[in-house]
This record gives sequence, C-alpha cells and structure tokens, in this order.
Amino acid sequence: MPTPPPCASNARRVDELDTPTVLIDLDRVEANIAAAQAYADQHGLALRPHVKTHKLPVLAHRQLAAGAVGITAQKVGEAMVMAHAGVEDVLLSYPIVGAAKVEPLARLARATTRLAVMLDNRTALEHVVRAAAEAGRAIEVLIEFESGNRRTGVMEPVQARALAQAVDATEGVRLRGLGTHPLGSSAADFVRETRALLAQDGLEATVFSGGGTPRMWHAHESEGLSELRAGTYVYHDRATVGAGAAGLEDCALHVLATVVSAPERDRAVIDAGSKTLTSDRIDPAFGAGFGAVLEYPGALVTSLSEEHGVLDLSTCEGRPRVGERVRILPNHACPVTNLDDHVVAHRGGRIEWIAPVWARGATR
Ligand SMILES: Cc1ncc(COP(=O)(O)O)c(C=O)c1O
Repeated sequence: MPTPPPCASNARRVDELDTPTVLIDLDRVEANIAAAQAYADQHGLALRPHVKTHKLPVLAHRQLAAGAVGITAQKVGEAMVMAHAGVEDVLLSYPIVGAAKVEPLARLARATTRLAVMLDNRTALEHVVRAAAEAGRAIEVLIEFESGNRRTGVMEPVQARALAQAVDATEGVRLRGLGTHPLGSSAADFVRETRALLAQDGLEATVFSGGGTPRMWHAHESEGLSELRAGTYVYHDRATVGAGAAGLEDCALHVLATVVSAPERDRAVIDAGSKTLTSDRIDPAFGAGFGAVLEYPGALVTSLSEEHGVLDLSTCEGRPRVGERVRILPNHACPVTNLDDHVVAHRGGRIEWIAPVWARGATR
C-alpha cells in the first residue's frame, strides 16, 4: 500500500477538527451496507459495490463481509489499491483502452483471483486479451450495452452478439455476461434479445449486471438482472436523496465547514469551495446550488470559488455567525471523497478513525 500522508488531526471529537474536512458517519455507513445487502439477498441479486464512492479498502472489506460477491471499480489503479488490500474479485466497469494500460491490467490480473472487464468495443477487447496473455491468467468480459445513459455501451443486440463471438473465439478471455449503467427500462429487453441471439451461436451470457444507486431499490423489477453494481448507496448524497433512494437521515458523508465571513445579512461564506465540494450540479428538480446546509435548511450554497462557498440566506430563518461550523450535504459524494487526503469516521461526533483515502486520484 502507498505510504499514508501525515495524519490530519489528533482530535477526539469532530467539533475539535480543523475545517474543511470530510466526515463519515459509521453508524449510517453500516446501516446503508446492511440495507443494500438485505435488499440484494431478498431478491436473489448478487451485490457488487462500486468502490469509486469511498475509495477505502476498510469499507470494501465491510461490504464483502456483509455478503457482497466482489467489488466494482472504474480504473485499474483504483482496483489495484483494493487488490493490494486483499480484495480478490474485481470487475472493472470501464473500457480499458490504451497500450499503456496492458501491463497494469496484467498486474491486476495477477493480484486478484477473479478479474472481469466491462467493454463495448474491439480495441478494449484487444488490450484485455494482451493483458491476459501477459499475466498468464484468464480475464472475463462483460459486454456493455446502452440502456438510457447514452454514454458507453453497444446500441444493438447484434453488436453485443458480434463482440461475444469475438470473445468466444479468443484465447485468454471468457464471456461472463452483459452489463449496463444505469439500469434503464430497455435493459431487460436488450438482454432477452441478446441472449436469444447468443443461443443461436451456442453462447451464454450468464451474468446480467446493472448499476446505479438512484433506482437501486427497483433493480429487481428489471427482469433477468443477476448482479447489482451500486456505489453511492454507502454514503448517499443530495442526488440520491433527490432521486428518492434515501432520506436525509441515511446520508453518511458531510463536509464540515466554518463560516469565515458574513458580509451581508443574506450572505455568508464558508471555507469549503469547489476544491472540497466539487462543482457537480444535480437535476434542478432535486435542488439548486452545490450542497445543502444541515443546520440551516433554507440556506443554499449558491456559488463556489476554489476555497469559498457562498451561502444565500435569503430564504433562511437563522443566520450563522462568523466562526460557526456547519455541515454540508454535497450534491455528489463520490468526487468529494476524491478531493481530500483523509476522511474522518465518527459515531455521534466521536472520532473512531481518520484514514487516508487510499484510492483517491487513481484516475488511470
Ligand atoms: C459503470 C458504473 N456502474 C455502477 C456505478 C454505480 O453507480 P452509483 O454510484 O449511482 O451507485 C457507476 C457510477 O458511476 C458506473 O459508472
């Protein structure tokens, strides 16, 4: 594992911490892990949590101990951190494209006992095949298809069939199944049609893997789904609350910030800007601005510069004073954890541990 950066603080309680700092409420994290696993068990789904949300081996191990079948990661570097920490079963849900990725992917294949890659094109397949040859290990493949996100994913079942045939014809790779993100309403039809085509070739896509916290509690309605890849559920955020997947009381990640200026009656400024909260916006139906202020429900983080978050207090009953600390529920938890060296884990304000965010910055 990489050497941890110097520890952020010797504080025992969160009110003693310097700000801005990222807090995670362990009671809520544990409840979220248990709820997702109970849901997956109830519906016979394999849960494969996406670690891009927490980037922490300690939480990946908790998810596995609760019953997850393995983890999902986007990038090889992110997965490598987990593999070094003893995680054995990894799905990369991102197309691994680039000759420079072959050797790291081969190393990851050697560091895990089971590795799969989700992809939608032959260039990615070629690189996976080279990595498998270099590692002397089989790598499994999920063919990614489009079901509403219009990001990656083949558009038609015939394209999925052609890629499946290419996988089947190539040594070193094995067809595991089909995957999509998020789990759009067309996904089940796509899988049914593709499976029918594959059957004509004597091929089988055993796993049907779908992702996304916003609609995770409806995943079982997608006929044939066998694996749920959800990430944000471990912390939840303003977006997943807005989508109805969680309540404010389920949110485990908050940014603790200090009011550093209050130049006008309706304006205050906190020490968390885009370098802490990110500039991610959410569906306007879910809320405006860059985060909700827990202590002042009417306040909005309306604009950000790198280290400043400007609060609009015009629809707020109270007025935070300079020096006061507030907790912000960010729009999107995953990129927030990527921005700070540490997270502070607490129960009821008492700090249990402060950990380096091991896989932060692992963008390759
Ligand atoms: C391919 C893929 N699978 C699963 C997920 C998990 O989604 P969520 O964080 O909404 O649970 C993501 C999120 O970006 C993703 O890109």
